[in-house]
Amino acid sequence: MKAAVRPFHREDLRQVLRLLGALNGEIEAQLLDALEDALAAELDAPAVLTELGGRVIPPGLWDELRGMDEAKEIIERRVILPLAEPELAARHAVAPPKAIVLFGPPGTGKTTFAKGIASRLGWPFVEIEPAELGAEGAERQAKLLADTFDRLLELPAAVVFVDEVEDLASIRQEERRVSPSITNEFLKQIPRMREAAHHLLACATNSVGLLDPAFLRPGRFDYVLPVGPPNDEARAAIWGRYVGEITDEPVDIGVLVTATPLFTPADIEWAARKAAQRAFEREHFEGNGSRATTDDFLAAITETRPTLTPEMVEAFESDTARFSRA
Ligand SMILES: Nc1ncnc2c1ncn2[C@@H]1O[C@H](COP(=O)(O)OP(=O)(O)OP(=O)(O)O)[C@@H](O)[C@H]1O
Ligand SMILES: [Mg+2]
Repeated sequence: MKAAVRPFHREDLRQVLRLLGALNGEIEAQLLDALEDALAAELDAPAVLTELGGRVIPPGLWDELRGMDEAKEIIERRVILPLAEPELAARHAVAPPKAIVLFGPPGTGKTTFAKGIASRLGWPFVEIEPAELGAEGAERQAKLLADTFDRLLELPAAVVFVDEVEDLASIRQEERRVSPSITNEFLKQIPRMREAAHHLLACATNSVGLLDPAFLRPGRFDYVLPVGPPNDEARAAIWGRYVGEITDEPVDIGVLVTATPLFTPADIEWAARKAAQRAFEREHFEGNGSRATTDDFLAAITETRPTLTPEMVEAFESDTARFSRA
């Protein structure tokens, strides 16, 4: 049977199996999985992946995401576990998620979370940018997007990431960066993604409030998850990570946490790199051999403009109350 269906596309295989299932009564889910896996292994996945600009994220990225325990735990439980343990999920009639939205201010870790999910699952990560489709004319761009999804579905598994999804699906059409035919094509492709067993669509946005509520509906997106500003504990964990990479001097993390109330993880990473640069330059120009100290970090912090404002934090909290669905 495997040989007989070899020339078929994955979707065709699924249809064949469904048909057989209808004819013969039930086809065992395991057999279906085994056949799909066998077929998948025969497709030239690495070539397709390269063509799509995707890559395999090394395991361990998930653990490099420090703090953010709440977001991590929710994603771990709702998204990763059912995909990583499909049999257990099926036993409890838990449908594995197919599409999620991550929202939050810039630099809070949405992209990194999506990559982290890919790294945890061992699935390749592919980012698509519908607003950057390099073709002339809306119709051709829409066709290109459809082709991209065809290719994506040829991969045995993938986390498909769409950043700044408000460009595609704002409440008001005039605020979209793409033509309506691209938005429509994207909406058409989501159900196809949902039918694929080993594909997860992860969309990210800084402005969840701009998204059309119909776009966000359950049935299209399983979860709408906040990735917010790091609290004191999260900042301590994030500082701990970067300080540990940069210096072996004793650094007072508590002081850094207090000095950075409106810093995102990205701001912390930036300030930490600045502190490292200071210590490097000092040793080069002054011959003082110490690695970065608390003072270097504090000086770097004063030179870093935090991304967040109290208004942004407040807006995020009200967005969370209004839009999050976990
Ligand atoms: N929890 C974390 N621990 C350590 N580093 C983090 C954490 N979250 C994010 N970072 C780092 O911060 C940087 C920014 O993260 P990322 O690009 O994922 O943010 P984003 O929410 O996608 O931002 P944007 O909205 O601008 O796209 C990355 O370099 C990432 O490594
Ligand atoms: Mg991002």
